[in-house]
Amino acid sequence: MKGRTAISGTGLFLPPDTISNAELVAAFNAFVHKQNEHNRTDIEAGACSGLLPSGEDFIVKASGIKRRHVVSRDGMLDPEIMCPRLPERGEDELSYSAEMGVAAARDAMAMSGRAAGDIDGVIVSASTMERPYPQIAIEIQQALGIRGFGFDMLAACSSATFAIQTASAMIEAGQAQAILCINPEICTSHLNLRDRETHFIFGDAATACVVEAAKGAGRTKGWEIVDTRMKSQFSSNIRNNFGPLNRFHPQTMGAPDKLITQRGRKVFRDVVPMASAFMLEHLKLLDLKPAQLKRLWLHQANGHMNDQIAYRVLGREPSPEEAPCILAEYGNTASAGSMIAFHQHNADLAAGDLGLLCSYGGGYTIGSVVLRKLA
Ligand code: COA
Repeated sequence: MKGRTAISGTGLFLPPDTISNAELVAAFNAFVHKQNEHNRTDIEAGACSGLLPSGEDFIVKASGIKRRHVVSRDGMLDPEIMCPRLPERGEDELSYSAEMGVAAARDAMAMSGRAAGDIDGVIVSASTMERPYPQIAIEIQQALGIRGFGFDMLAACSSATFAIQTASAMIEAGQAQAILCINPEICTSHLNLRDRETHFIFGDAATACVVEAAKGAGRTKGWEIVDTRMKSQFSSNIRNNFGPLNRFHPQTMGAPDKLITQRGRKVFRDVVPMASAFMLEHLKLLDLKPAQLKRLWLHQANGHMNDQIAYRVLGREPSPEEAPCILAEYGNTASAGSMIAFHQHNADLAAGDLGLLCSYGGGYTIGSVVLRKLA
């Protein structure tokens, strides 16, 4: 890519419900107490171990997360349910993902000054999809009155950066002038609230951006896409076995591996060197020095992880402004995380300033997008 495309607008939708660490931990510990009471005889006989409680201090210290927005909080906080609960929607209603995506998309279109008639296609890209078909992108395309095409993509936490690269390449190839990329992340749908290691990690959010031709379209505002790079390397350290073949094995359909499972410590150790080296290689390819970057909009999974990655990329401690962290407020919102950081922390930069948007996560996948402010 040679800077012929731009991100002309970004949007964000946050569901109004929120859950604090204190509320989440209270629900988890009530569940633990109930389970341990139920298994008390076996625990006392040494036939099984009791479940351990969770703690607010651990969560903040280990991850940086203080609260999260969620599509539905009550079921998540009920120790008898431990899952979001929402009524099933019919064919005549917008799906939950489409509703969140439309709200974020409208925001992005307003910022870019583009109407439905100016957009040629919709890419919906997220770590999980509400259903396989009809695609959420096509539902959103219809809801917004966009002609052209729509398709869904799954690229785990790199869904946003991989979609930007896909849209950008399609525009470069002359297949479209402007594409809406949307990331409706209902992460609480695959969160195991009964698992002490992961119950606090995720929140829900939808982000969107308009990618369009930068030159010859009168485009003077937004962020020029200088270049994009993607990488993947197989790992089961973040894994979810949910899928259509589950019904072939009815006895394990509801097992915990049908939600997210992760070896967090291992992911941390693998991804810090991999993602930082990838960003440095990308800069080198473009003949850019890390010192030229005014901002890093990093994937938002863990505060310490981002500190270490930013340190390796910049060669020094980053200031909070240089590598903004949005984890405290939103938790890990999968592919939406780096986009929220970008959406909320780019307006203060000046024309010509360079920044790097980078995601890393399940797959493993890494997506790196170098951006230059137009005006
Ligand atoms: N409450 C209290 N203590 C807890 C706990 C909880 N909810 N969960 C784990 N602990 C305990 C563990 O039992 C362990 O205790 P021990 O030292 O006595 O054995 C200790 O805390 C450390 O556990 P560990 O799992 O090693 O924590 P961690 O520091 O690695 O933090 C993560 C866990 C998940 C926050 C962290 O590993 C992480 O974020 N990794 C990156 C994940 C990532 O990037 N994923 C991408 C997905 S999009």
